[in-house]
Amino acid sequence: MKALRAHRRGGPDQLVLEDAPIPVPAAGEVLVEVHAAAITPAELGWDLSWQTRDGADRTPVIPSHEVSGVITEVGTGVAGVAAGDEVYGLVDFDRNGAAAEFVAMPASALAVKPVKATHVEAAALPLAALTAWQALVDQAGLHGGEQVLVHGGAGGVGVYGVQLARALGAHVIATDLPQNEAFVRDLGAAEFLDYTTERFDERLSGLDVVLDAVGGETLARSYGVLRPGGRLITLAAPPDQAVADRHRVRALFFVVRPDHDELGRIAAAVDEGSLRPIVSEVFPLAEGRAAFEHGRGPRRPGKIILRVRP
Ligand SMILES: NC(=O)c1ccc[n+]([C@@H]2O[C@H](COP(=O)([O-])OP(=O)(O)OC[C@H]3O[C@@H](n4cnc5c(N)ncnc54)[C@H](OP(=O)(O)O)[C@@H]3O)[C@@H](O)[C@H]2O)c1
Repeated sequence: MKALRAHRRGGPDQLVLEDAPIPVPAAGEVLVEVHAAAITPAELGWDLSWQTRDGADRTPVIPSHEVSGVITEVGTGVAGVAAGDEVYGLVDFDRNGAAAEFVAMPASALAVKPVKATHVEAAALPLAALTAWQALVDQAGLHGGEQVLVHGGAGGVGVYGVQLARALGAHVIATDLPQNEAFVRDLGAAEFLDYTTERFDERLSGLDVVLDAVGGETLARSYGVLRPGGRLITLAAPPDQAVADRHRVRALFFVVRPDHDELGRIAAAVDEGSLRPIVSEVFPLAEGRAAFEHGRGPRRPGKIILRVRP
């Protein structure tokens, strides 16, 4: 099969389109014919993109961990899916990704693709929408009527954080660059703050939940805008528990994981119209290196997608 691979750790310049063996699905896995895959520009900087969890080198590697495609082969011990099913999912970061004509992955890491989404649109969902879901539903337990602040509402996670929080019936306040205000309001934000000119911590207080995918100073200023007992979900870096205790808030960090049931609920939300996949740019697989280079600079909101089959 054709695959985008890197033989040595590095940046996009290491990526080459070449022939690679079609993977063989192990027990519990399926083989997916890839139609579209999404890249995460930062992934080439993560240790797990190059190593196993035990630290062993696993080059040559295939990047891009979000996939939408069609099952062509089912490994032993897999129930509930069959060859021909249109599926989408999240490939674990410590194994070969989906920038290739085929990817093998656990059946538990995918679900039936939203019917109303194209493969390109479905590939824009798994990592960021699962992160937003696990942050707001599993970690924060957000419910209707609560006030939630989403930092970076036009960001990869933020676009789904705003939409899900709105769908859960929350009052959504989002920050981002001023040129993204109309877009973020259209996703469901009732209030918008320009983070380049407005200090959110001088404007807001008594909130129930903060979703922080920015970290640094943004995280440091977030504890104080919550009510006592409020929940701060932080994704870029773990929180400071001493500061959280001082503000009497719950501060939580977690790492997103593939989840069949949650992917199913996300697909249902897309088909019901309460969640819209956000695609930034589409590149053919052969231009995978250019896609990663594009991801380093300023870009439109949404995921960068590799189209593998027309
Ligand atoms: N723990 C997990 O499981 C998990 C999962 C997914 C992602 N993450 C992490 O979450 C972070 C964000 O990921 P992403 O894919 O959402 O990245 P992203 O697409 O770059 O989104 C970040 C957003 O925040 C905005 N932003 C930057 N500085 C800001 C500030 N001071 N105040 C408010 N907004 C600001 C950015 O706007 P600009 O246009 O100005 O850059 C952008 O819209 C990364 O560190 C990633 O590694 C963690």
